[in-house]
Amino acid sequence: MNPTPDAWLQTDAFLADTLIGVDDALEEALRAQRANGLPAIEVAPVAGKFLHLLARICGARRVLEIGTLGGYSTIWLARAVGADGRVVTIEAESANAAIARASIDAAGIGERVDIRVGRGADVLPTLVGGFDLVFIDADKESNTLYLDWAAKLGHPGTVVVLDNIGRAGEIIRDDTTDSQVIGTRDALKMLGDDPRFDATALQTVGAKGWDGVAVAVVV
Ligand code: DHB
Ligand code: MG
Repeated sequence: MNPTPDAWLQTDAFLADTLIGVDDALEEALRAQRANGLPAIEVAPVAGKFLHLLARICGARRVLEIGTLGGYSTIWLARAVGADGRVVTIEAESANAAIARASIDAAGIGERVDIRVGRGADVLPTLVGGFDLVFIDADKESNTLYLDWAAKLGHPGTVVVLDNIGRAGEIIRDDTTDSQVIGTRDALKMLGDDPRFDATALQTVGAKGWDGVAVAVVV
């Protein structure tokens, strides 16, 4: 097969069908998100399950998400933390938070999820630390600020996941003026240089085009 976006899409659909299947709560969350005009920038199904499995693998009981959108990734994470676990998720747009609240509650794990409405820069200083996994998927300009908070609110062993690190290869363009690309590249440099983290990153293709995800541990 030629490595075209259509081939990536079909292959991603095969992987999602084979490994995830039909999930009514997640599909209803996406339907609500689309019906309310939110952008289709939630993680792909296979990426949502990757987050879920990472949280289970590290035994996460407290998860922090920065960027709720419509709650799709939040549901994946909340399912991983167990009945006594908690997900704190930060969303800047109150309209998005309301949609997420309804979808998360409908998924039956509402009591595990605390949605904080506000900008990350304002909400993060109000949180109590001890998070076992932090998922950063918000305004890319603030990625280095979010990584700094992830280190502060985590502990040695905390898993940090940073979404959208590939950006269709734009991150290697030194002449870019795109503030989101610059914020992402700065975050990758921070993950490489900052002694609080040990990190890698994987490029991805699939339902979300050509992008990628960084995974780090707080040392
Ligand atoms: C964008 C943001 C995301 O978090 C994502 O997964 C894809 C795209 C964006 O702002 O373009
Ligand atoms: Mg994203």
